[in-house]
Amino acid sequence: MLEGRRSTREFGSRPLNTAQLARVAWAAQGRTADGRRTCPSAHALYPLTLTVVAGNMDDLAAGAYRYDAERQVLTLVAEGDHRDRVAATTLADHAWLRRAAALLLLSGDVDAAARHFADQPPLGQRGPRYVWLEAGHAGQNIYLQATEAGLGAVLVAGFDDERLLGLRPAVVPSGQHPLALFGLGHPAGGQG
Ligand SMILES: Cc1cc2nc3c(=O)[nH]c(=O)nc-3n(C[C@H](O)[C@H](O)[C@H](O)COP(=O)(O)O)c2cc1C
Repeated sequence: MLEGRRSTREFGSRPLNTAQLARVAWAAQGRTADGRRTCPSAHALYPLTLTVVAGNMDDLAAGAYRYDAERQVLTLVAEGDHRDRVAATTLADHAWLRRAAALLLLSGDVDAAARHFADQPPLGQRGPRYVWLEAGHAGQNIYLQATEAGLGAVLVAGFDDERLLGLRPAVVPSGQHPLALFGLGHPAGGQG
């Protein structure tokens, strides 16, 4: 599977299956049978939140949804298609990213992590460092689950933080910092 993992920037018009989206969300942040998560987390703190900006789905209304990792459900936080507004916060990738069936945003409670690891050197930096590392783990899980399902995914970390923060609280939860944005959908070509 690792051999086939590539970044996809050309998406087809075929709607994304909701079960496939749910599987990718689970891979990013889902709960496992032992009560932990699919990705590692320092002190099992789990500071990340996954927001799904759904647009071209087969059985899910367009909207911004928060992934509830414990219950493994998507909860609607804002109706409507927000893909264009989110893609517009990127530094250079608006034109094609807006065509992804769904955009996935990983955000994190950096301040809570800073407080939690406040007594560990380098003071004030260890917690935030751990949040970014965890986002990398979750992001690779997104890539690998997409690859296994024959879907296209791409990490777009080049975004304007302030513009994305302007989409609080629907896309970025209050008190959280945007970490990593992904496009997800059927790749162009084939049945796409
Ligand atoms: C930290 C990081 C940031 C990235 N940011 C962007 C981005 O803003 N836009 C984009 O199109 N791709 C972005 N990428 C994807 C890389 O361009 C891509 O991984 C690289 O070209 C290698 O191609 P591959 O993923 O297909 O192997 C990013 C990747 C990483 C690891």
